[in-house]
Amino acid sequence: MKNDGFVKVANTSDIPVSKMKEVQVNGQNICLANIDGKYFAINNICSHEGGPLADGRLEGYEVECPWHQSKFDMRTGQVKVPPAVEPQVTYQVKLEGENVLINIGSMTTEVKTKVKQVESSEYRLILKERQVLEGTDILSLKFNKKAEDNNRIFDYVAGQFAFFDIGKVYDDPKGPIRHFTLASSPTEEFILISTRIRDSPYKKKLDLLQIGTTVKVRGPQGKFTLHEDHSKPAIFLSGGIGVTPFRSMIKYATDKNLPIRIIIIDSNISRENILFKNHFDKCADTNKNLKIIYTITDEQSKNGDDQ
Ligand code: FES
Repeated sequence: MKNDGFVKVANTSDIPVSKMKEVQVNGQNICLANIDGKYFAINNICSHEGGPLADGRLEGYEVECPWHQSKFDMRTGQVKVPPAVEPQVTYQVKLEGENVLINIGSMTTEVKTKVKQVESSEYRLILKERQVLEGTDILSLKFNKKAEDNNRIFDYVAGQFAFFDIGKVYDDPKGPIRHFTLASSPTEEFILISTRIRDSPYKKKLDLLQIGTTVKVRGPQGKFTLHEDHSKPAIFLSGGIGVTPFRSMIKYATDKNLPIRIIIIDSNISRENILFKNHFDKCADTNKNLKIIYTITDEQSKNGDDQ
């Protein structure tokens, strides 16, 4: 490392014109690009859901993320094409002969704070329980709430979601990381997610996760949460697996005795398929502000609608 903060990360011959390469400096993943003989450096982790930009495509000064095709300007880090909203961090680059150097100390305080925030929002959580809802393809996974690496508690607001990196997922068209709504309530001692197991590489790997496995969880995110004016009721319509955020909010409102009227209409194919029914019924026993209406859509079901 040199005193001016620049660090050699590659030789010019490592990166042909119009190509990119991932390099690492002090644990940070950086995407280095050669655009018409000029070199540019940008954070390699996409601000949308963490896609690896160096594996994407370079078009002029724009890099396209391989996961959901967000585009960023390599010169400024600005988002050119969504779904990403947040810009990428960029770094100063200079050449010394054949050496390409990056100055990671050139980040502004604002950018440094942002990078720190992203780093601090990553938790390593251990899988402690798994369960398949009988007769369905719905898998529920419970994780410890305390991160195994630093004992931080994964905290969130009822209704939010988080990104789950379960590692070693290859060739999934949606990328190796997925986000799931946290079906648990912040008042509970675990993190719960529920999902349908499909034939994708990610879901297959998720289905094989063993108790005791550590996964990387990033978040929380999302604004689909209970409103603060409790004089107004909350009316939820849900179907099948879409009920997960409502489990979180209903459990939270019940545990906290929130004076908010909640009505949920939960539609399912059959009585047996109702996800979290026992849980909801228990909440309804203690929470007099809660009304649950189950509807059954399968005409073969003997019992029809049920309240
Ligand atoms: S666009 Fe990059 S992760 Fe979604």
